[in-house]
Order: sequence, then C-alpha cells, then structure tokens
Amino acid sequence: MKREQWGSRFGFIMAAAGSAVGLGNIWKFPYLAGTQGGGAFLAVYLVFMATIGAALIMAEIAIGRSAKKNPVGAFRLLGGGLWSVTGMIGVITGFLILSYYSVVGGWTVAYLLKSVAGTIETTKPDLLEAQFSGLVSAVLEPILYHGVFMVLTIGIVIAGVAQGIERSVKILMPLLFILLIVLVVRSVTLPGAWEGIEFFLVPDWSQVNGEMLRAALGQAFFSLSLGMGAMITYGSYLDKGADIPNASCWVVFLAALVGVLGGLLVLPAVFAFGMDPGAGPGLTFITLPAVFGEMIGGYLFQVIFFAMLLIAALTSSISLLAIPVAYFAEEYGIERKWSAIVVGIVIFLIGIPCSLALGIWGEYKLFGMNFFDLMVYAVDYYTLPIGGILTSLFAGWVVLEKMRKELSNDGSLTFRWIGAFTWIMRIVAPLAVTWVMLSALFGERLAAIWVMLSGLLWN
Ligand code: PFF
Repeated sequence: MKREQWGSRFGFIMAAAGSAVGLGNIWKFPYLAGTQGGGAFLAVYLVFMATIGAALIMAEIAIGRSAKKNPVGAFRLLGGGLWSVTGMIGVITGFLILSYYSVVGGWTVAYLLKSVAGTIETTKPDLLEAQFSGLVSAVLEPILYHGVFMVLTIGIVIAGVAQGIERSVKILMPLLFILLIVLVVRSVTLPGAWEGIEFFLVPDWSQVNGEMLRAALGQAFFSLSLGMGAMITYGSYLDKGADIPNASCWVVFLAALVGVLGGLLVLPAVFAFGMDPGAGPGLTFITLPAVFGEMIGGYLFQVIFFAMLLIAALTSSISLLAIPVAYFAEEYGIERKWSAIVVGIVIFLIGIPCSLALGIWGEYKLFGMNFFDLMVYAVDYYTLPIGGILTSLFAGWVVLEKMRKELSNDGSLTFRWIGAFTWIMRIVAPLAVTWVMLSALFGERLAAIWVMLSGLLWN
C-alpha cells in the first residue's frame, strides 16, 4: 500500500503547528506565566523554544521523514532493535496524554455549549468556581463530553492524513488565529490592561529559579509536542523535497506566538478586572468567564474564546491519536480506520478513571496521587523527558550523518546551523533535560552534581 503524504507543505506546517498549539498554549501557558513570575518566565520559555525546542523538532521531523515510518518502526529501522524502545515510549505517551487531554478537551466542549446557551453568564467568581468544580467532579456529564471530544478526534483521524488531518487543520488553524487576534485586541484595549501587559512582557529577573526553569523547559517540550514521536509521525508523511529546518522554524514561531498571544489575551483582562493572575488551572474556566461577564459584548467574546480553545485542543488531539494509529496500522497491518476506532475507544476508556478521579474516585490514590494527577505526573516527569533525552542522543550520536543529510536535503540546501544543532543534540539537550528530570525527582543539588559528572565524563 502506498504511504500517505501531506498534500502541500503549507498543510504540513499547519498540521505540525496545530499539534503544537493546543491547551498547553492557551490554558496552561498563561496560568504558568501567572504563577511563575510573568515576563521572566516568558523570556526563559522563548529561549528554550528557540534552542533546544527548535533543534529537537528538526531532529524528530528528520527521523520521521528519513524512515517514513511510525516512531517504533523509525527507531528500529535507523538505529536497530533496542532503539525501538524509544518509539515505544512515544506510543505509550500518546495513549497517556490523550486520555487526560481529552477529558480537558471535553470541558471545552461543555463550556462552548454552555456559552452558546448563555448558562455561564455571571460575574461572580464563587458561582463560576462552583459551576466548574460541579462539572469536573460530576460522574456522567464530563465523561459524555470526553466521549464527544474523542468522537471528533477519531472522525478526523479516520479520514486520513491528507483528507482528514490536513484538510481540517487548513481551515481550523487560520480560524484559530483570527479568533485569537480578535480576543487579544479586546483584552489589551480594556481600561487597566496595561498592568497585565507589563507583568507579562517585562521580565523581573529576580523571579528566575530552579522551579521556573523546570516549568519553562517542560512547557517548551509539551507545547512543541516533543519527546513522544508526534513530530516523527507527522514528519513521516513529508515529501523528500521539503525544507525541514525552515518548516520547523515556522512551527516553533507559530507555537511561541500563540503562547505570547494566549498570555496577552488572558493576563491583561485578568488584571483589568482586578482578578488574581496566580489562580492556577482555574484561570481559563473560572477567572476568564468572570472577566467576560464584566465586559460589554462578553457573551460573544466568551463563545469565540471557547470555540478557539476547542479548535486548539482538537488539532493537538488528532496528532496524539495519529501516533498509535500509525503504529498499529504499520506494525500489525491493522486497517487505519479500525486502528483509529479501537485505539480511540481504549483511550476513551482510560480517560474515564481520569475524569472520575476529579470527583467520586478522588480518594483512590496511588503514590499519593489520584488517577488524573498520576497520568500527568507519569508523562511530565518520566515518559516525556526520557523520550526527549533518548531522541536527542539518538540524533546527535547515532544517526548524525543521516540528520545532516535530511536537514540539507542531501546537500542541496545549506543548513547553516548544523554546528549548533549537533552541539544541542549531543550535549545541551540531554544534560538540560536530565537536570530537569532529576531535580524534580531528587532536588536540585543532587541533580546538579549528577549532570556535572556526566558532562565531565563525556568530555
Ligand atoms: N502541544 C500540545 C499542547 O501544547 O497543548 C500538546 C501535545 C500535543 C503534546 C501532541 C504532545 C503531542 F504529541
């Protein structure tokens, strides 16, 4: 069977940017910036995106295009049997992330419908909080919405790479940008918005600390969909003539831009209405509706906002589902359609305890965490960093020659940054991510000692 391909390079960039731009940028990024010191967090995040993030996304796309296979097959083909474990970690991570991501995606479906129906129109944070926790801790309602979100995701993936994913992102991504810009213009022109703009854009360097660096690097990874084979999968459908460094820079730029715009949408509005920017995960679902409630034309802006959030979530979830679907279709010869349906149902089922963990199953804990937090923890602290470390070591030490060829299209393009790329893949990314992972697990001092020792060994 002929392998599918993107119909155009623009389509590929939209798909990859769609994967990158998601709940991570619009839901998580503003509240992280709100709790981790505003401008300084933004600056550190941008540096990570432009260095480690950019290099790793190039490597992943190049690995995918070179092998033209799903992550497991790609690592096996290029590096031999043992390396396929790295791809396997990616496939498992795809399962894990999507199962909780889709639960949050379900909340956006619920909030969009409720916004349209006008049932969340109030300015009282207490009421909004009760409404939000009422939704997430309920039994059937959130599971139902999680199901709706998964059905949408499965539907797009079944239709195929060019006909399903590409066709939808080519409409959805430009729409997302338009909606986002409308909202940012509204937010930054509110009286009193300046304080929020300043908080978000002017760095206060005294805020830089280990926890913030960790959060910024983790966010850069998550928001570029790195360390788990999503970009390998998408890269595998890319044609040989495409300019990978150029496409990667576009994706990094667009993802960073949406992060910045997401911050400019949320934080000035929050400041303008005297709300708390450090409200955490509830910022989007509790604080923002209160802001919309205060605003003239708030009904419309609220509907636009949740429509945009749903689009962002969907264009990411399809890339998450595409990973295991490609794996089962290629490694076991299962038809793409059935692979999408079966994997989608399994993910839906794993999502059920995630959702219930925020309500009636909240008291069932493992390692002191409920099931939802456990999934997030496993991904953020283990599978993503390990996937990232292995992928960068692989690109930098095992298949560097191949990377060189892929990034320059066999010498027909000049890729000026190959020196920096090599250095980042070989040393900077593995050490930085190792530090992040170990310091989160064992504390900063021990991690620093370990990283210094391994750096010395390499030299
Ligand atoms: N990048 C997405 C976001 O920021 O919301 C999340 C994500 C999508 C992570 C796809 C990983 C992935 F493969």
